[in-house]
Amino acid sequence: MELLTTRLRLRPIRQSDAPRVYAMASSPGVAVPAGYPTPKTIRDSRTYAARASAEWRKRKPRQLTFSILRRGDTIWIGLISLRWPHNGVGELGYSLHPAFWGNGYASEAARRVVALAFTKFGAHRVQATCWVKNPRSAGVLKNAGLRKEGTLRGYLKRGQIVRDEFMFGLARRER
Ligand SMILES: CC(C)(COP(=O)(O)OP(=O)(O)OC[C@H]1O[C@@H](n2cnc3c(N)ncnc32)[C@H](O)[C@@H]1OP(=O)(O)O)[C@@H](O)C(=O)NCCC(=O)NCCS
Repeated sequence: MELLTTRLRLRPIRQSDAPRVYAMASSPGVAVPAGYPTPKTIRDSRTYAARASAEWRKRKPRQLTFSILRRGDTIWIGLISLRWPHNGVGELGYSLHPAFWGNGYASEAARRVVALAFTKFGAHRVQATCWVKNPRSAGVLKNAGLRKEGTLRGYLKRGQIVRDEFMFGLARRER
């Protein structure tokens, strides 16, 4: 499955993306705000990329992870995923290498994946959580048409820190 936007190409993650995943996820300011563990070595990213690409081969994938490439120069810039916490409810996650932040790329990719969830998969709701201290991510979700619905207090524990997260959502009926 390949998705195109004006400036981006989204294609299923491959095992061979592991070095780029590692370079991104180990960059300061990426894994912590996103809420996943910082990879310690490239082996962690190899394991991640192998699992995420294997999902695509399942009959009913639990999570679809796309690599985001710039169409102009085919440079790999990040990842975006769509998972299904409940039947008919799609949940977004995304991270970009910091070198590419601030160009509207994450918003462009998120809009495309939201459309995919509704049109191809018949979702009745698309949602995403975002750390209350992550205004860039909140901006992405607003740009993708999701609305802030509230604060999930004490939702994520990372190390010793318990975090509040915003819940953003868009129901099919309000699209
Ligand atoms: C969150 C992330 C994906 C945003 O990527 P991006 O390509 O820079 O996002 P965009 O350029 O589409 O910008 C989105 C919005 O961020 C906001 N924004 C941009 N720069 C900002 C800044 N310096 N401070 C606060 N908000 C900012 C704006 O609202 C912007 O949209 P607008 O300019 O149209 O109003 C990127 O910062 C990232 O990978 N962060 C680490 C991982 C992460 O936090 N993932 C989110 C998991 S919930």
